[in-house]
Amino acid sequence: MSPSNPKKTYTRSPAIEKQIDDLLAKMTLEEKVGQITMVETYSIEPEQVSEYFIGGLLSGGGGNPDPNTPENWRKMVTDLQKPALTTRLGIPAIYGSDAVHGHNNVKGAVIFPHNIALGATRDADLVQRIGQITAKECLATSVHWAFAPAVSVPMDVRWGRSYEGFSQDTDLVSEMGVALVQGLQATSDAGHMNVLACAKHYLADGATEWGSKRALAEAVPDTNTATAGLSEQAEEDLGQWQIDQGISKIDEAELRAKHLPPYIAAIEAGVQTVMVSYSSWGGLKMHAQRYLLTDVLKQELGFDGLVVSDWMGIDQIDPDFYTSVVTSINAGLDMIMVPYDFRRFISTLLEAVQNGDISQERIDDAVRRILRVKFAVNLFEQPFGDESLVAQVGSSVHRAVAREAVRKSLVLLKNDADSLPLSKDLPALLVAGQGANDIGIQCGGWSITWQGEVGATTTGTTLLDGIRDTVSKNTTIHYALDGAFTADIHTEVGIAVLHVPPYAEGFGDRYDLALSNDQIQLLDNPRKHCNKLVVILIAGRPLISTEQLPKMDALVMAWLPGTEGNGVADVLFGDYPFTGKLPFYWARSMEQIPYAAMQTHPEKPLFEIGDGITSS
Ligand code: GLC
Repeated sequence: MSPSNPKKTYTRSPAIEKQIDDLLAKMTLEEKVGQITMVETYSIEPEQVSEYFIGGLLSGGGGNPDPNTPENWRKMVTDLQKPALTTRLGIPAIYGSDAVHGHNNVKGAVIFPHNIALGATRDADLVQRIGQITAKECLATSVHWAFAPAVSVPMDVRWGRSYEGFSQDTDLVSEMGVALVQGLQATSDAGHMNVLACAKHYLADGATEWGSKRALAEAVPDTNTATAGLSEQAEEDLGQWQIDQGISKIDEAELRAKHLPPYIAAIEAGVQTVMVSYSSWGGLKMHAQRYLLTDVLKQELGFDGLVVSDWMGIDQIDPDFYTSVVTSINAGLDMIMVPYDFRRFISTLLEAVQNGDISQERIDDAVRRILRVKFAVNLFEQPFGDESLVAQVGSSVHRAVAREAVRKSLVLLKNDADSLPLSKDLPALLVAGQGANDIGIQCGGWSITWQGEVGATTTGTTLLDGIRDTVSKNTTIHYALDGAFTADIHTEVGIAVLHVPPYAEGFGDRYDLALSNDQIQLLDNPRKHCNKLVVILIAGRPLISTEQLPKMDALVMAWLPGTEGNGVADVLFGDYPFTGKLPFYWARSMEQIPYAAMQTHPEKPLFEIGDGITSS
């Protein structure tokens, strides 16, 4: 792969625009409608990709081959691409995946800290390098489209997708979002991008109101929606799906001031695709919002890439599918993530064009945008990515950058009596908590599977691995998963690692963000067995811990660090300084959530955006 330059902005070329004109002039309506159709990998046979002229394919969260290896990923993708190339005009399909913190579906790929952690680094250069590495690991598997970055501005951390946001500070979201776009879409000297980035979810997905829910039961039944195995009542008790995909009730001034700037910045940085939010604004589902999708995004902001729906996103517009298809395409959607019943979508769209409910011009505009981005990633010349990159998937070079990101993302919030950094020569050390020794917990949601899973889900190092590799050989480490140590054990220092089990999307919506009882117990148990207690929190958002703070001598927020847990020990033991700063405020109590409630609350939050003790 020729060297790529993240600072080089891709420019549209008249020659390519001419090629697109020529292609469009040759295409039948069926070929055009096929291009607008995106299907998930297990819902279509290879021969149907050519039969229906399919333009887009994807793996949803966990849409993996079995066994899940980079080589098998590459085979899964190329087996569907080959038939696309046999069509009359040989237009390649483009394959997308949620590579939102590395190529995170692929076992063995490096998994970076989630966006909330990257926001804590405030290091645009690092984030851009993460984008470049992610793009390489995607291209190794012939994936040319990463559904990232989320440029959400999460205003209510009860939202399960808060960790996908870089920050509650709009400018920081813009800066980090641009950096990831530049890294993913780094452009070679030949003028082609590595992979397409995707600014999502347009618009104001992070501004929905608690209780304005898309309850799971109310949604269009999606057979692929993995439930977390909880009962309906348990879901209700936790608050699942109470805010995700809900309604943003802000006015247009706030919409433009708080939530639009990251898209403006991403467009200026050349982002090629935008994914539409499930949420609603102005009384309409975003997937039906002609004003925001066409008048604002495409005309006012001049976005000339493609606008893609979310997974079954158009199905939520109206119970009548024909109405949903007509409304979404006429609103300005260019590619539809169907993702299952592509035949029904194709026949419905053909019917709508033949009825005159969707104009030929709108279809041509959508297909032009689709072809435009396919040329941008050199798909016609290089439809199978770059097999030579397979050897780099999960390489030590890539992991070193992830370890750097872990180090820079840690936020030190309390450090009484300079408890940290720790000596490497302690005679003994307590370590408590399952979260200290579990890759799946470190990675969080969108890791190997959609929801993520507890356990040794992929390769990497845990926090405990890092501690063991850092302390002297004379240091005795007492590790207890539940923090229960025998009465005879007492040490100078104990480390309690508290965690929240992995979740994604609405499954992570929570009424109450207080530390759970078992996590509090995990803090109280070791407290009795050590003189100084260092607490490390592995979570995708700040948790209410005001009451427990006095029991801690030091508190480190580690977010969701990904596969390189050893980066935590690098800082705990002083090889690197603490530099991270909070990208979200830390509420003192639930009364200070959401952001608007904090702004009017008589007390300050426990910690402010920008807080973080730096050590030398
Ligand atoms: C999901 C998410 C979106 C993701 C898409 C494909 O429901 O909302 O972020 O890119 O579906 O997996």
